[in-house]
Amino acid sequence: MKLALAADHGAFELKESIKKHLEEKGIEYEDFGCYSKESVDYPKFAYKAAKAVADKKFDFGVICCTTGLGVSMAANKVKGIRAAVCTNEMLAEMTRRHNNANVICMGQNVVSAELANKLVDIFISTGFEGGRHERRVALLTDIEEGKDIS
Ligand code: RB5
Repeated sequence: MKLALAADHGAFELKESIKKHLEEKGIEYEDFGCYSKESVDYPKFAYKAAKAVADKKFDFGVICCTTGLGVSMAANKVKGIRAAVCTNEMLAEMTRRHNNANVICMGQNVVSAELANKLVDIFISTGFEGGRHERRVALLTDIEEGKDIS
């Protein structure tokens, strides 16, 4: 298990605390920045981590900003990425089971550090259910490829 981490300045501290948690659990990660609280543009950092996940260099991405929203929009522009903003345990579990999400996005101003760690744990340990959800996730890929699925 290897995770791609990224955040903008608005979630620098959350990313650092997630890193500590992963280290305690012995989970491998790479930190794609940012590396301080200096103001940066979130799409650049979300892109780096999301692209690394899409290129199959990592199992999952954990990408954060102040709200989780901007980074999720950026990550979802990368082909092959299904990024979900998670704010509670149920969302972290369901987006793996039903959407086969490969990136979890969280907001530093939305979730506590403790909850963020819990959501990461749930996200990376929950499997995709497949079955009917396989077809639906395939339709997401069709949309991404510009197909008319109506
Ligand atoms: C940065 O000020 C803030 O806009 C960013 O962290 C994020 O929440 C955007 O969606």
